[in-house]
Amino acid sequence: MRTLITNGTIVTADGSYPADVLVDGERIAQVGLNLAASANADETIDATGKYVIPGGIDVHTHMKLPFGGTFAKDDFETGTRAAAFGGTTSIVDFAVQSKGRTLREGLDAWHALAEGNAVTDYGFHMIMSDVNDDSLAEMDGLVAEGVPDFKLFTAYPGVFYSDDGAIFRAMQRTAKNGGLIMMHAENGMAIDVIAADTVAAGTTDPIGHGLARYSVLEGEATNRVIRLAQAAKVPVYIVHLSAREALNAVRMARDEGLPAFAETCPQYLFLSLDDLGNGFNGAKFVCSPPLRSQDHQPELWKGLQKDDLQVVSTDHCPFDFHGQKELGRGDFRKIPNGLPGVEDRLDLLHDGGVVGGRITKERWVQIASTAPAKLFGMYPRKGSIAVGSDADIVVYDPNRKHTISASTHHMAVDYSCYEGRVVQGGSDVVMSRGSVVVRNGQFTGTKGAGRFIKRATADYSRMA
Ligand code: URP
Ligand code: ZN
Ligand code: ZN
Repeated sequence: MRTLITNGTIVTADGSYPADVLVDGERIAQVGLNLAASANADETIDATGKYVIPGGIDVHTHMKLPFGGTFAKDDFETGTRAAAFGGTTSIVDFAVQSKGRTLREGLDAWHALAEGNAVTDYGFHMIMSDVNDDSLAEMDGLVAEGVPDFKLFTAYPGVFYSDDGAIFRAMQRTAKNGGLIMMHAENGMAIDVIAADTVAAGTTDPIGHGLARYSVLEGEATNRVIRLAQAAKVPVYIVHLSAREALNAVRMARDEGLPAFAETCPQYLFLSLDDLGNGFNGAKFVCSPPLRSQDHQPELWKGLQKDDLQVVSTDHCPFDFHGQKELGRGDFRKIPNGLPGVEDRLDLLHDGGVVGGRITKERWVQIASTAPAKLFGMYPRKGSIAVGSDADIVVYDPNRKHTISASTHHMAVDYSCYEGRVVQGGSDVVMSRGSVVVRNGQFTGTKGAGRFIKRATADYSRMA
């Protein structure tokens, strides 16, 4: 099958220019002007007035994550389908090592969840919950299998938490095997004390979640794990960074030339502590780190502008309000942590970032596709409009407006954090490896067509 995309504006991280794109099978075969005469195409897609961009890459999702006695609602079929509607054609999800189990068991379980179900391509990072001699030895094998990053937590004591010694041992191993350490950086021990005090003082509503998880304790943990990584001589990537104190720690490290990287998420750019108020309705907005006061938002945008933040991913981890978030009625500590968002990322960033004048459209493509592809060992196969790259392509209408709503979104969750928000920009045609999976609001893909992305390590020192 040969598909020609004509008359569009190609937008890449490096620049924008008018050109046609010829797709042959699963790959991009040609990029150039006036390809129609020689293309011999089976189908032509007219992209007049549209952007032609590499498919979005969301490197932080949690399909079916077990949390707080329940499971994130989206599975790999519904989650990748919803992502595709929003122009995201690759996800990297977190496989989970449960306490007392091996990394292998966790990874196999995640392969079983994804294979035959995902509609677009997917990779895995590994969450390490149990650092010991055996799991440390297993890490090298995972790197060789295309799972080269390991997430550890200074948060969630008793669940995913690791102490500094365990984190340091995982870092030392990763320094040797060439992988990347990803850190959830909040001081979970101190936060648990403050949360208990907050409940004891009578605040049990979701706002207590936001009040107890001090931003300074995100800053402290971020600086600590960066310095541990420096001592272990390993690259480190801070996930879901929400607070100015944490950003300051990343900026300082990067100014020193350390291979320290960070992502933020749309919820920290567009939502705030105020959303956690409003009684128990605030449970819809409970995630960790929590939504911050609005004054953090301009700092995060500045971080994106200056490349102190390299990536925006979603931390997509959806729980229904009814029946799941409600587990925490009367005690905010029991609300499952996580928000839905995999479908909305590109449009929110286009609307608030590009239309809002905060970032260029080239930077938009960079933070949502190209930089994640580079940092997570997928480039130039993904994240690029170039000859030989996978034909993961979005024909994006920068002018179309639509209203985000749970009644129209495709994520398997009963609410939207952005209910009623009008955004400018939307994905008209979405291709995954040469096949159209979404066309004008209709799903045309196939369950199980998504393939595992065996990822390489990257030369992180050259990216610092
Ligand atoms: O609240 C969140 N972020 N839930 C998902 C798990 C995690 O910490 O990433
Ligand atoms: Zn986390
Ligand atoms: Zn997460």
